[in-house]
Amino acid sequence: MHQFDTVIVGSGGAGLYAALEAGKHSKTAVLSKLYPIRSHTGAAQGGISAALGNVEEDQPEWHAFDTVKGGDYLVDQQAAKILTEEAVQAIYDLENRGLPFNRTAEGRIDQRRFGGHTRNFGEAPVKRACYAADRTGHMILQTLYQQCIKHKVAFYDEFQVVDLVMDGDTCQGLVAVALATGDLHIFAAKAVLFATGGFGRMFKITSNAYANTGDGPAVCARRGIPLEDMEFFQFHPTGIKGLGILISEAVRGEGGILRNRDGERFMERYSPTLLDLAPRDIVARAILTEVRAGKGIRGDGKIDDYVHLDASHLGKKTLASKLPDITGFCKTYLGVDPANAPIPVLPTAHYAMGGIPTDVQGRVVRDDKGTIVNGLYAAGECACVSVHGANRLGTNSLLDLVVFGRRAGQHIGSYVQQAAAPAIGPDAAEFARGWIARLTDGQAGPHGGRIMEKMQTTMMAKVGIYRNAADMQDAVDAVQALRAQYRDVRVQDTGRRFNTDLLEIIELRNLLDLSLITAAAALNRQESRGAHSREDFTGRDDDNWLKHSLAYLEGDSVRIDYKPVDTSIWPPKPRTY
Ligand code: FUM
Repeated sequence: MHQFDTVIVGSGGAGLYAALEAGKHSKTAVLSKLYPIRSHTGAAQGGISAALGNVEEDQPEWHAFDTVKGGDYLVDQQAAKILTEEAVQAIYDLENRGLPFNRTAEGRIDQRRFGGHTRNFGEAPVKRACYAADRTGHMILQTLYQQCIKHKVAFYDEFQVVDLVMDGDTCQGLVAVALATGDLHIFAAKAVLFATGGFGRMFKITSNAYANTGDGPAVCARRGIPLEDMEFFQFHPTGIKGLGILISEAVRGEGGILRNRDGERFMERYSPTLLDLAPRDIVARAILTEVRAGKGIRGDGKIDDYVHLDASHLGKKTLASKLPDITGFCKTYLGVDPANAPIPVLPTAHYAMGGIPTDVQGRVVRDDKGTIVNGLYAAGECACVSVHGANRLGTNSLLDLVVFGRRAGQHIGSYVQQAAAPAIGPDAAEFARGWIARLTDGQAGPHGGRIMEKMQTTMMAKVGIYRNAADMQDAVDAVQALRAQYRDVRVQDTGRRFNTDLLEIIELRNLLDLSLITAAAALNRQESRGAHSREDFTGRDDDNWLKHSLAYLEGDSVRIDYKPVDTSIWPPKPRTY
């Protein structure tokens, strides 16, 4: 048993920023299933957006508009306003805390172009992404972790969360497994914040780390909390062919060009104004359309064909100073030097727009009326505040976790001053104890790895970039069957110390639950909007579908409710680029 005011689950950018703020006013612990600086924030490459106007004229209002339009008008607009207005201070805070941004000749933070970011409400691309070469997320993580150590935040590394402790509508703490010993730990806390990141591992080809298994959202879903807008999953246009490893949009921000087998700059046909820097949903669809039409590099029309990203004209100096990691990845994984040859790329599952519903203070809400779950918070990719709507703009993810991680931490700091200390005993771990006892009882059962493989290939093939009812129904049925098989799964390694077999089986359950919710929510939404592109409902349908979905996991099925979208600033318009 441990007693804290605040427990934060996840040590990426959102968790660490929240810990810094909450830790000023409360006894705070951060639990992470990884060593903190291995968190997936470290994989974010190209930049973090803010309308600093250091290189070209820019304004937070333009940034907010781009965010709303990029999200195909499913964005809550006051939340987007907060995101983009607080962005400027957030960047200077990071700079003051020591983040080594690239600089202009005058010594200011340098900025570069990214998809969907424009000047003057869509006129042309604008340089808005602040960056530290192509290691921006890595630098944010290092900076915030060092600050947390300096401010003596307590860390519980390699602890896997398995359950929440709830008393009615109030969160009282959580239960976690210590991976080093296999022991269950109960953390009593006045406030719990989930910052567990994404769940791209439900797909076969993804830019996400192995750890991205949606632990926070899955635990919430099993405790009756709905998940919002789960049908919207972003495919980043440029993953390394066959592997999915991210090739940053910064390559195109610096001038890289997508070309098909004829050498044609095909984005001229799909987005005459923004070209290769159109929002990701548009570029990902364009690539797949080229491939399906036999214009991929092999030209066979098969969906694993690919296109080229040409950065050779950028020159060795720019590649070395602004894209050094990308250059290294291409050499290591493809044997290609981007200074001399084009990079073979294909879209890769990248980012969940949906997640645990929150208000702008990071408080979790449990229904369409905005009813707060006392003491429970979420921030970063696992949350849905909702500033990304149906399609997130590149670089808004790092911004989201910094701005809303900080806001959540600040709110927790005041909440815990007046909240009662939870009174919980060992029975709080009953559910977790029973689950783990069954998984490790030594009996024979199906192999978790095979269930994982089937889930990932099904989600990739049936709930990918282009979707239709028959495929998504197949996915729902297949995932339900896999969930049934999971009931008999056992770990093969019954040891207690660093039992990664047990960890993976716990993660598998989380991914299965989230796959079911994602497929069911996607099947339910009968329109095309942002990243949700249906071949059987090709248009955006504001009359019937301008609303957020709230998906409740109820046993083996998913119930879907709705809540309104805040369109208080810009009325929805057709989206052209
Ligand atoms: O392309 C990238 O560097 C990714 C950035 C993001 O997802 O925001």
